[in-house]
Amino acid sequence: MGIVARDRYWLLESGSTAFALGLDDTGVLIQTWYGPRLPRFEDYPAALRGPIFAMEYTMQQTHQDLATGEAGASDERSIDAFSDSGLRGFVLRFEAAAVEGDTLRLTLRDEGHGAIVVLTYRVLEAFGLISRSVSVRNAGSAALHLTRLFSGTFYLPQSYEFTLNHLDGRWGDEFRMQREPFIHGVIQRESRRMTTSHGGVPYFAVERSAPGLGAGEENGALWFGSLDWSGNWKLLAERTRDGRSIVHLGINDHDFVYDLKAGEEFAAPDLFFGYTEGGFGAMSRSWHDFVRERHAPRRNFVPPVVYNSWYATLFDVNVEGQSALADKAAAMGVEMFVIDDGWFKGRFHDRAGLGDWSPDPSKFPQGLKPLADMVHARGMKFGVWIEPEMVNPDSDLYRAHEDWIIHFPGRERTLGRNQSMLNIGRADVQDHLIDIFDRLLSGTAIDFIKWDMNRNISEPGWPSHDRDQREIWVRYVEGLYRIWGELRRRHPNVIWENCSGGGGRVDLGMMAITEQSWASDNTLPPARLDIQEGYTQLFPAATMAAWVTDEHKDAFPLDLRFHVSMAGALGVGGNLLEWTADELETARQHVAAYKGIRPLVVAGDLYRLVSPRSGAFSALMYVAKDKSEAVLFAYRLLPSRPLRNPLIRLAGLDENALYRIVDSGRVLVGAQGSNPSGYPGTSTRSTGGSDGALSGKAWAQIGLRLDLGDLDSTIVRIKRV
Ligand code: GLA
Repeated sequence: MGIVARDRYWLLESGSTAFALGLDDTGVLIQTWYGPRLPRFEDYPAALRGPIFAMEYTMQQTHQDLATGEAGASDERSIDAFSDSGLRGFVLRFEAAAVEGDTLRLTLRDEGHGAIVVLTYRVLEAFGLISRSVSVRNAGSAALHLTRLFSGTFYLPQSYEFTLNHLDGRWGDEFRMQREPFIHGVIQRESRRMTTSHGGVPYFAVERSAPGLGAGEENGALWFGSLDWSGNWKLLAERTRDGRSIVHLGINDHDFVYDLKAGEEFAAPDLFFGYTEGGFGAMSRSWHDFVRERHAPRRNFVPPVVYNSWYATLFDVNVEGQSALADKAAAMGVEMFVIDDGWFKGRFHDRAGLGDWSPDPSKFPQGLKPLADMVHARGMKFGVWIEPEMVNPDSDLYRAHEDWIIHFPGRERTLGRNQSMLNIGRADVQDHLIDIFDRLLSGTAIDFIKWDMNRNISEPGWPSHDRDQREIWVRYVEGLYRIWGELRRRHPNVIWENCSGGGGRVDLGMMAITEQSWASDNTLPPARLDIQEGYTQLFPAATMAAWVTDEHKDAFPLDLRFHVSMAGALGVGGNLLEWTADELETARQHVAAYKGIRPLVVAGDLYRLVSPRSGAFSALMYVAKDKSEAVLFAYRLLPSRPLRNPLIRLAGLDENALYRIVDSGRVLVGAQGSNPSGYPGTSTRSTGGSDGALSGKAWAQIGLRLDLGDLDSTIVRIKRV
């Protein structure tokens, strides 16, 4: 494990992942292996250039770690630039290598530009992942204009056919799982919207296409990676005519130029990648552990049960109304009361107010303090909604700083939801936002912020910038990180929720600076089950804000709505003033039950047992790290044709330990001895009692069946005896 460096060859091993690099005899850095670990160092392929054919140049088939396109190579490049000296492209040769603990640093040089490229690989052994970052420094004298710098290029084992798995989507329909076979040519997935976007996540999981050789939930080979970035991104999956499969992932080069004057440096965001033979389940568990234990701002954070008043009151907020909701929320066991949009100056509708972040005097004559005090007095914490990156033309900020708006001079400024975007690439805008939100957080006892971002970019101009305006795509995101990072530093106890019109900006970059993310504005159970399955491919349930709302409440039972949200970071967003006493009591019981299973949901290992994409029935479970207990969630929506609930085979338990099902009357037992009919799933007798213990292996092999009707759901606890 770790890094072996020998004779201009570097092998990185992390969990089940092996990745190797070597130099050919001219100093070209070649990626020799990405895949399973091989028994011996000597087993890994040598660093060779491709063969020469008359019509295909040798560099074209060279697995150059940072593909430059030099010497006639016509595959997609990893890096590109032009210089004021007239020189184009890169020719990179090895200069130095250094290994320090888990980190390998390789320095390459372009003689022509005088540019230094540093590749940093880090082995994250605890998670079976490797990180890669790359930076370019202009050590020459002429200005260099960077037009592409992908964070990672991966050459998959040759001659196999591959299928790309990724997440697609749109507003209200985020994290849609997609599979596409590689085609001759390039599959391109990307965002051009300034945020990661509802349209996808910068992530890939590649499996083999041959029948029987693809990845399943708990088996099969997967090559996977994701980018630590919250802006425009591009994923290319290229299949060359000679049968090579190559994946590139990084900042999008669409409309992108980044100036590097003499001495300046540009660092691309980190990319994390790995390889597993344990299918999507094993991949997800690596990502979850990595995010929770290493990447997140607060390790192993336990999300509070949130009440958010948006769906209840929209913009119509005031002390009295919010206090009445807070009373109900407190009685339900809610731990964090959050007032959403509408609390600040002039914000009576979505046409005004954004930018002026002080409480509206007609709604909150004494500011937010009386409400915060009232919420605190009821034993809850207090949170507010903000949308820092935005400004309505009808606001004091816009009137004072029209030049802070992202725009093209002389062209109409397209509004989205009646709002413009502040250019937070600018240091003065960053300073302004840091200052006003620092004051907001210093002046009122605010424990939680929901940071929203509700429109896509238009006219991406920055006329006053003294460099290439197209830097905006990167400088905006760096500005976002600076503002957020600085506010976190000054207010370390505040919990941050990430939202972008639902799940429009959910990525590893956000995972590093926020405790939770709002996955979608769509809260309907059928949609949510799909969205949550997609979300948790990468991101842990602990970060997945999931509220029970009133949307189509007559169509979906309250129990079902709770059970869906309880599989993530539970929140409530309905209008509690309209809930009946029975509904409030049911909700109280669910909140209490959630607190009991929350340690498993937020810190356990996720096993997806039956996918919601497979039909009306789905199930998943979370298993404690020490395998002492687990919780099973099962849902049955409306089948379109007769459906017998499938047998659920439990997963992730200790094979030899005995487990018993507790507090559920919905289990139709599956093993003989505890099943009078002897046929799995036909008994209507519940295990309920103490004699139903089976080995973990039996639960996994024989399974159980659940007594669920249409639009029905249950949560089952499983304990080691
Ligand atoms: C976005 C969010 C919602 C809510 C509104 C407020 O749509 O996704 O949750 O905060 O903005 O305007």
